[in-house]
Amino acid sequence: MPLRAADAVGTLGTDADRPLTGEWSEARILRWLREDDEPRLATLWQAADTVRRRTVGDPVHLRGLIEVSNHCARTCAYCGINARNTALRRYRMNHAEIMASAQQAVGLGCGTVVMQAGEDDGIRADWLADAIRAIKAEYGLAVTLSLGERLVDELAGWREAGADRYLLRFETSDAALYARIHPPRAGRTCDRFAILGTLRALGYEVGSGVMVGIPGQRYESLARDIRLFAELDLDMIGVGPFVPHPATPLGGAADAADATMDQVPNTAAMACKVVALARLVRPDANIPSTTALATIDRVGGYAAGLRCGANVVMPNVTPAEYRRCYEIYPAKVCLHDEFTATRAALEERLGRLGRYIATGPGHRLRGC
Ligand code: 5AD
Repeated sequence: MPLRAADAVGTLGTDADRPLTGEWSEARILRWLREDDEPRLATLWQAADTVRRRTVGDPVHLRGLIEVSNHCARTCAYCGINARNTALRRYRMNHAEIMASAQQAVGLGCGTVVMQAGEDDGIRADWLADAIRAIKAEYGLAVTLSLGERLVDELAGWREAGADRYLLRFETSDAALYARIHPPRAGRTCDRFAILGTLRALGYEVGSGVMVGIPGQRYESLARDIRLFAELDLDMIGVGPFVPHPATPLGGAADAADATMDQVPNTAAMACKVVALARLVRPDANIPSTTALATIDRVGGYAAGLRCGANVVMPNVTPAEYRRCYEIYPAKVCLHDEFTATRAALEERLGRLGRYIATGPGHRLRGC
């Protein structure tokens, strides 16, 4: 019988000491988000780690990230590749470059490639479908797409071409905050929850998630975000700290430090709380230790995420000249990333954590 979080009952006394038992109400999630007591937090990390080990286990799935294009039609207030950033050199990888990146992913031990881009109308549906088919035929990799809000026909065509998964973070469930940071395209509405439903109906594995510490983000809405991870039955959950980018409207230090409100901090510790709670509310999801976390905590970021519930790492296999230009936030760790640079480095660092590189595509094992 599959083991549920509730089965792994701790032996300690107070609610805060028993993070594995009972229902995950918003109120309870909220209490954990506000918890600052180190020994109690240690029980949260431990609880998430225990559930991770008993569900998805010790293998760590590697997903090779190919940043296919940094063109973007959107004007998101947080993102460094938004259309208004005219200082950025724009690129779009060609077919041969994508195939070379996929080959590099195979060499690292990845079972999946993630093709990510800005919302780039220059990525034609047929062209991408060809790339998906070629990667699957040549390398047998699972293919995840992360291309923003695309048309239903495009999503359907890519699924038909063999794409397995789609990532689309809802970023925050606070509708007013979302509207402020994520303006719709002219003449269109954007409802990411509707798109997540469409992706599910098309047969994709569906991933979503949030940024932690967006200026204006409140604890209550972050608690609701985490409840939604469970209610949406997400197959993959990606969370990372918000990292201010100076070339964006939210890039100023003043925004990040609004002392007048009960602001969620964009710290590594807060991001780890969200990773841990994501694991506890959705025990069998695939959850990455994200590049954003490794960027703000260069020494221990990947390891911290892997210790508090994560079971996925996404080595960047984009050619270096392009990687530099895919600057959604500054100083991305992947520019000189020792953790994920080679297969040997990955094996060694994962080994230190009692973990190892997984084999196979790493689909969600429902109810494991
Ligand atoms: N800080 C952290 N994460 C960011 N993203 C975009 N901009 C930033 C930033 N400044 C995240 C968003 C998006 C994902 C691809 O990258 O959550 O969904």
